[in-house]
Amino acid sequence: MASSIAVSRLHLRGRTCLLNCLQKVDTFLHRGVGTDAAVAQAQTTERDGSEAKDGRRSLLAVQDERREQAEKSVLISCQSRPSEKKFLKYLSRHGDVNKYFFYESYGVYAVVEFASRDGVASLIEAATIPSVSHESMVPFKSRLLSLRSVDSLNHQSGLPCQPQTSVSISELVHRLSSEDSVEQQITSLTEAFQLTEENSRLRFLVCSLLNDIAAAYFPECTIRPFGSSVNGFGKLGCDLDMFLDLDSISGWNVKQPKAGLLLEYQMKRANSERAVTQSILSVIGECVDQFGPGCVGVQRILNARCPLVRFSHQPSGFQCDLTANNRVAMISTELLYLYGELDPRVRHLVFTIRCWARAHGITSSIPGAWISNFSLTVMVLFFLQKRNPPIIPTLNHLRDLAGPADNSVIEGHDCTFVRDFSKIHLQRNSETLETLLCEFFVFYATFPFSRMSINIRKGKEQNKPEVAPLHIQNPFETSLNVSKNVNATQLSRFVALCQESSWLIQQSERNSPKSAAGESSPTPWGLAALLLPSQVEGMKSRKKRRREPVSETIKSLLESLKNKNQGKKR
Ligand code: GTP
Ligand code: MG
Repeated sequence: MASSIAVSRLHLRGRTCLLNCLQKVDTFLHRGVGTDAAVAQAQTTERDGSEAKDGRRSLLAVQDERREQAEKSVLISCQSRPSEKKFLKYLSRHGDVNKYFFYESYGVYAVVEFASRDGVASLIEAATIPSVSHESMVPFKSRLLSLRSVDSLNHQSGLPCQPQTSVSISELVHRLSSEDSVEQQITSLTEAFQLTEENSRLRFLVCSLLNDIAAAYFPECTIRPFGSSVNGFGKLGCDLDMFLDLDSISGWNVKQPKAGLLLEYQMKRANSERAVTQSILSVIGECVDQFGPGCVGVQRILNARCPLVRFSHQPSGFQCDLTANNRVAMISTELLYLYGELDPRVRHLVFTIRCWARAHGITSSIPGAWISNFSLTVMVLFFLQKRNPPIIPTLNHLRDLAGPADNSVIEGHDCTFVRDFSKIHLQRNSETLETLLCEFFVFYATFPFSRMSINIRKGKEQNKPEVAPLHIQNPFETSLNVSKNVNATQLSRFVALCQESSWLIQQSERNSPKSAAGESSPTPWGLAALLLPSQVEGMKSRKKRRREPVSETIKSLLESLKNKNQGKKR
């Protein structure tokens, strides 16, 4: 039975390969166990205080737990669908199984978490390295394994597989059209798109697998996910941003070395921090390219503002970006996570606006003059700070609430803000999601982009410090504009779409036609209609037919909406 599991086999692409490195890769699996466990244990204890009474935990605490799970997990490619029962029985011989699930991506895969790392070690020990007909193969023991089809594991046709991609816009529109209110449509959209428990586990597992490779060069390093994979705003299918963290190495950055032994340590041929980052990513990128099981299309993009290694991890289907020395992005991730946890309306509105923007081509996965998802998220946060009373506090307020453990200065930038949820008291604001969605469109349809900058640190628009169509102050590197890439055309498209959408949602609200008589599928209405470019376009042409200048119509509509809302507040 043991022979049914095989370790991943690598095709050697270069004869002068890094065989020395491979030996290191092979040994780290054993060496890393004790040390990593100790570090994880220490970190968990240190951050125990970060859990609020209501169960909300800081992102770091959540990440520590996820990382521990990932370190006890393996990823198994199942060439034919195994019988679930027999598969589990087989794995249980190597140790107790905490959790497992199957998913499909170029074949069926299983993620299996053992109760301890001994289970993983036992399974890898039992796996065979397939015999090869020629010498140009590198035996590489990683935690990506493949299960050969054997009779004893049988075939199961109805194997339950967890979805790892989100529904299409058309399917979503169909689903939303059957909901009873815009409120329900918004929550249903979030449910359809947000990362599942399984997808989160898979993301941490991919980081952990990559960590194994990087640890061959830098023992004790940690690869952490950041961005939408962990900030609470990730959509199924979003990229996996990873950060190679060398600060977790014990004894690193000690200001006053103690007497006694020092590690012989020198940076070769590195004249700047950027050069060090580039060298580190260059060797890791080379190793991932040559020996990373399942990693394909590896590009080393080292001259970018933020150097990175980009590749596809085929078994998970994730597009991965690995960076180093990107601490501000890690802190931004923590901040976004904190805002998302403060009030459920934050995540609902961010998901909805991100989805709406994507459906209309306002954002794109291809880099360009588009508004990025990160910028769009900051715009939603700013809008929520501007409500009366505000739904979320300003970043300056969060900084004022910070305790000594929250202090953080990165490259001279003040990145301090409170992590303890119990210290944050929100003002009472009971606006519905529907109101907030309408108001978001009205807010940005009339925002003075030509003069003002969006600033979540102060929660107030500020005079633009530089000429740029869209200016959104970087929350931590405050002299930077996070939307510097956005051109005037893209901004105009965004503003026009906000105008059209504010109009359309008001119309939908009035008519609410769920389903025309005799029609099998419900007529798109409310949020569903907003996601259909044809509806928004159709609205434009209807207005044109009325021979009324669009801007005039919208202007008066916006005025009336504003008056209506002011009336409500009073
Ligand atoms: P998607 O990948 O589009 O789902 O969203 P994302 O939030 O992951 O965005 P992206 O992959 O572009 O960036 C990853 C993370 O890097 C973001 O979540 C931010 O924390 C950070 N980031 C991206 N762009 C900027 C920027 O211009 N300034 C700063 N300070 N951080 C950024
Ligand atoms: Mg991302």
